[in-house]
Amino acid sequence: MKFLIIGGSGRSGRLVIEEALSKGHQITALVRNPSSLEEREGLTVVKGSPLSVADIARALETKTYPFDAVFVTLNARRVSDSPFAAADPVNSPPRLMADSVRNAIRAMRGATPPVPKIIVMSAVGTGNSFKNLNFLMRLVFTHTNMRLSREDHDAVDKELRDAPGIQFVEVRPHMLTDDEAADMKVYPDDGRGAGFMPKVSRASVARFMVQAAESSEYDGRAPVVSN
Ligand SMILES: NC(=O)c1ccc[n+]([C@@H]2O[C@H](COP(=O)([O-])OP(=O)(O)OC[C@H]3O[C@@H](n4cnc5c(N)ncnc54)[C@H](OP(=O)(O)O)[C@@H]3O)[C@@H](O)[C@H]2O)c1
Repeated sequence: MKFLIIGGSGRSGRLVIEEALSKGHQITALVRNPSSLEEREGLTVVKGSPLSVADIARALETKTYPFDAVFVTLNARRVSDSPFAAADPVNSPPRLMADSVRNAIRAMRGATPPVPKIIVMSAVGTGNSFKNLNFLMRLVFTHTNMRLSREDHDAVDKELRDAPGIQFVEVRPHMLTDDEAADMKVYPDDGRGAGFMPKVSRASVARFMVQAAESSEYDGRAPVVSN
């Protein structure tokens, strides 16, 4: 299959690329800094911004055309590595993810043939999964800077549901780790039954995202996942 990835230079994005390549797929990465990813067999790197529809459209015209799906693994930059740090105003507008997804959907529609599917890495706490978070997590997601990501993920959720004709999978992982890929537990979209504070490795999420692109099992869904 042929994929475009937005956010491919990030920690999860790199793992999605590895997973896609290991399964024999071809993947194009749209990155703002091309030196952050090395081209190799199966991987094409295109310089550009997800905040530009024209840049995404150009990436969808590269040699791997026509595309089967777009992956989004973006994450707003903070002023430090802490997830509680304030947003970096230069690097990350408040709607980085939502505007990028909106732009991606426009470019996907405009491609010939249109790209039918988008798979977005979101987070537990988004949309209807918020109500099933434990009290501590609800507090963190409303009273710390982590609310900024949640608000953007909520806006992404809306963009995906307002895009008739484009199939989506919105993956809602629990707390991420950098462990190896392991077995996944897949919960309903509202996260019911996921336990107090489970974790999930980025590698497991990457594997799940590629599987979600390969099959229609999770189309139109926003599954909460953990290991
Ligand atoms: N941390 C957790 O426990 C947790 C739990 C559940 C879900 N999540 C979600 O998982 C997702 C992926 O997180 P991650 O930690 O793997 O991401 P990450 O390593 O922080 O990567 C972020 C990516 O976004 C890109 N990016 C940031 N600002 C950009 C901009 N203005 N224009 C273009 N690209 C930009 C980065 O590109 P550059 O390399 O150019 O900067 C990079 O490719 C996020 O949406 C996060 O909310 C996190």
